[in-house]
Amino acid sequence: MVETISIFEVGPRDGLQNIKNEIPVNKKIELINILSTTGIGKIECGSFVSAKWVPQMRGTNEIFEEIIRVDGVKYTALTPNLKGFENALHAKVDEVAVFAAASETFSQKNVNCSIDESLARFRDLFKKAREKKVPVRGYVSCIVECPYEGKISPESVLKVASQLLDMGCYEVSLGDTIGKGTPKTIEELLKVLCSEINQKKLAGHFHDTSDTAIRNVEIGLKYGLSTFDSAVGGLGGCPYAPGAKGNLNTRSLIEAFGINSFNEDLDLDKIRPKSFNNKFEELSKFPSSRRDISMILDDYVKFEDIKTIAYNLESRILKDVNLFDEYKGKNIGDKKKSFAVSFTFNDSKK
Ligand code: HMG
Ligand code: MG
Repeated sequence: MVETISIFEVGPRDGLQNIKNEIPVNKKIELINILSTTGIGKIECGSFVSAKWVPQMRGTNEIFEEIIRVDGVKYTALTPNLKGFENALHAKVDEVAVFAAASETFSQKNVNCSIDESLARFRDLFKKAREKKVPVRGYVSCIVECPYEGKISPESVLKVASQLLDMGCYEVSLGDTIGKGTPKTIEELLKVLCSEINQKKLAGHFHDTSDTAIRNVEIGLKYGLSTFDSAVGGLGGCPYAPGAKGNLNTRSLIEAFGINSFNEDLDLDKIRPKSFNNKFEELSKFPSSRRDISMILDDYVKFEDIKTIAYNLESRILKDVNLFDEYKGKNIGDKKKSFAVSFTFNDSKK
């Protein structure tokens, strides 16, 4: 069993790529600057992908220009091809991630080519990354289930993960893209992967659709994985994966294993609602009170998004959104258009 865990914060990328409305770049920068002070060592700040494909990631270049970089924190981004990598180099990204899938259909939908073609596209990227000494991380999506093809075999995941490592990834993050993994299926997968791959080269990226992400992390730890991806506020999903819900919430991850279980010197107070006052979005008090999740949200995060976030966090149908008592009777406009809400859920879990 692993003793210390490392967090790979993916909220500004995986979290914000799935919000329907485009979030202004300055708000993303605020979010990243706050995350930079929490002690988390790696923050995925955006993607150098085509804005036609993922408009929410437009502005990643400006983000890297303007964030306040804290010593010791690595600022990373997704790059699907050489063009993305060159843009990332220009933006002085500390490390990049390439992404492939274990499902052919998902690969077509997400990057417009087959799995093999997607890997072939990375060759030039790896060559340049080696020249420039930029570390490359890899993702494999659909490690358990694909939104289009259903179940995916561990052998298909092994094939892609091994190829990514052979090409030069220092680590492969295993993406349970639609959050259908359970401790049983993750264990079946890790048994196969860890018989062929050094477990130190694997990380877990568990979306939390089925409320199993924490238990999946436990299985990961049992198999010797020590890095887990999580997202501030439990945000997340993939525009090309219908049904992809939020990522494992960073705060839940910390609370589940205790702050001393982490490599980083984390400041949990910084991941608390007050530090986000009037900021882009709020971390939840979750899971201390699972029925009363509070968030501070700017008003360009529309009600539909609030519902999605609430659903992501709880897999529950939202019954109502209530203003916090302290905000009642006040003109919300005075609060720089921010408003505070708490959520009430229908009793039954969906
Ligand atoms: P394509 O249309 O096949 O590419 O897209 P293309 O080479 O034909 O180029 C089309 C246009 O895109 C051209 O511009 C290119 O210049 C431009 P035009 O001539 O039409 O004006 N282009 C780019 N622009 C900016 N940056 C680039 C870039 N490359 C080409 N890097 C492509 C192929 C891969 C670009 C596209 O499909 C794409 O951008 N896909 C991104 C999909 C994505 O970001 N998905 C979400 C991330 S993956 C994920 O969330 C899963 C993960 O979280 C793990 C998990 O949960 O499983 C990581
Ligand atoms: Mg993801």
